[in-house]
Amino acid sequence: IPVDPFDLVIFGGTGDLARRKILPGLYRRFIAGQMPEDARVIGAARSELDDEGYRKDVRDALKEFVSKRALSEENIAAFLSRLHYVSIDAKGEGGWKKLAQTMRDDDDVVRAFYFSVAPSLFGDLAERLHLHKIAGANSRIVVEKPFGRDLESAKALNATLAEHFDETQIYRIDHYLGKETVQNLMAVRFGNVLFEPLWNAQYVDHIQITVAETVGVGGRGGYYDKSGAMRDMVQNHLMQLLCLIAMEPPSRFEPDAVRDEKLKVIRALEPVEPGDIVRGQYEGKGKTPSYHDDVEDGESRTESFIAMKLHVSNWRWAGTPFYVRTGKRLKARQSEIAVVFKDAPHSIFGEAAGRHRNILTIRLQPNEGMTLGVTIKEPGPGGMRLVDVPLDMSFADALGPEGDEIPEAYERLVMDVVRGNQTLFMRGDEVEAAWAWTDPIIEGWTKRDERPFAYEPGTAGPEESAMLLHREDRRWREIKE
Ligand code: BG6
Repeated sequence: IPVDPFDLVIFGGTGDLARRKILPGLYRRFIAGQMPEDARVIGAARSELDDEGYRKDVRDALKEFVSKRALSEENIAAFLSRLHYVSIDAKGEGGWKKLAQTMRDDDDVVRAFYFSVAPSLFGDLAERLHLHKIAGANSRIVVEKPFGRDLESAKALNATLAEHFDETQIYRIDHYLGKETVQNLMAVRFGNVLFEPLWNAQYVDHIQITVAETVGVGGRGGYYDKSGAMRDMVQNHLMQLLCLIAMEPPSRFEPDAVRDEKLKVIRALEPVEPGDIVRGQYEGKGKTPSYHDDVEDGESRTESFIAMKLHVSNWRWAGTPFYVRTGKRLKARQSEIAVVFKDAPHSIFGEAAGRHRNILTIRLQPNEGMTLGVTIKEPGPGGMRLVDVPLDMSFADALGPEGDEIPEAYERLVMDVVRGNQTLFMRGDEVEAAWAWTDPIIEGWTKRDERPFAYEPGTAGPEESAMLLHREDRRWREIKE
């Protein structure tokens, strides 16, 4: 899809996200030939830098965060020549005139403003962009999470942005939606005839969503300790995964058609019973610091792990639980969704054949791919014994070199902003609905003054999480090292 010429301003252009993700993503799109001749990127931040100083800083970032294979001096130099820099004071007047002059005065040039800054600055930026007539009808803004910390603050943020921008101009990023394998959930569900007829409570026993991480929260303890796994991961990333798995087929792959269906899922989520929630906090082990060490607060009750049993109350899913879990310092980095189908209604092979179930596992990261567990006959003359075997597909193998070079989430999302495609971005009402469901859960455990269960690093979280399924004769999929 052709991309219009653009001026992309990155507020927070010298920050961690810009250096780690946004600029390397733009570079990769550039070498893929997707950045039009006259596209420009303008870094804007407090530091007093000129274009050359910024280019030097970005060069270092590319060297650090882009694979060696994709780097060449020629490409780096060509990419850097598209970069400019304006030193700006988000809360004052410094730099805004210069930014206005730097932007091209041409209606055919898309203006995109990436707010890669603390949400407390969103209002200031939006206001000044208008005051100085830098943003207009052809402009788009991109905002990052955290989009609020509860319903009230999310509503306030939405209201602030709405003072200056129309909803069609606001791109709220959830980087999970930019992951190729997450988009693939829709391709698998709605591009095949095989799965959808079985994708409901009649055939699905339960669904598991796991996002396990090995990292701790050291280095960002200040932010994390005020959030916890529920706000940091469940309200956004896991919620999006759940929506894509549970939603009705949209009539078209278009922004509002897709987002309307996701919103219906969020609104169909039932409040969660306290007994269906397990929160955990990692302990220290050997040289690995504990959660309390990482956030420098020995009394903190913030969760670094959470597992929950959820219900989507609608015709399709009534009676099928969704178990979700996510945590830090677990055994492996492993994100996957498992759709566990029901037992065959009647076994013609008798009890000796044992219990067998089809499980469709979609691996989001790493080893992107999917596996369908199929029951077949165990070879041998000893009668009809059954065994479950995997029909296994890895994207890297199935798609050749292209499967190996899966684009990063930010590459896709930034280009979608420029193209004006909001399908993979969250609408304001979606974010608010997610908080409306999240708030009472957090309020509940806060009121009950609950302590999270301790868990050993390098495990699958606290024992109590396993119990959540065991008590119903189910078990979590293994997190494999
Ligand atoms: C971020 C969270 O949004 O997502 C982090 O704030 C988390 O805590 C990260 O580690 C996970 O993203 P990914 O792409 O590494 O799965």
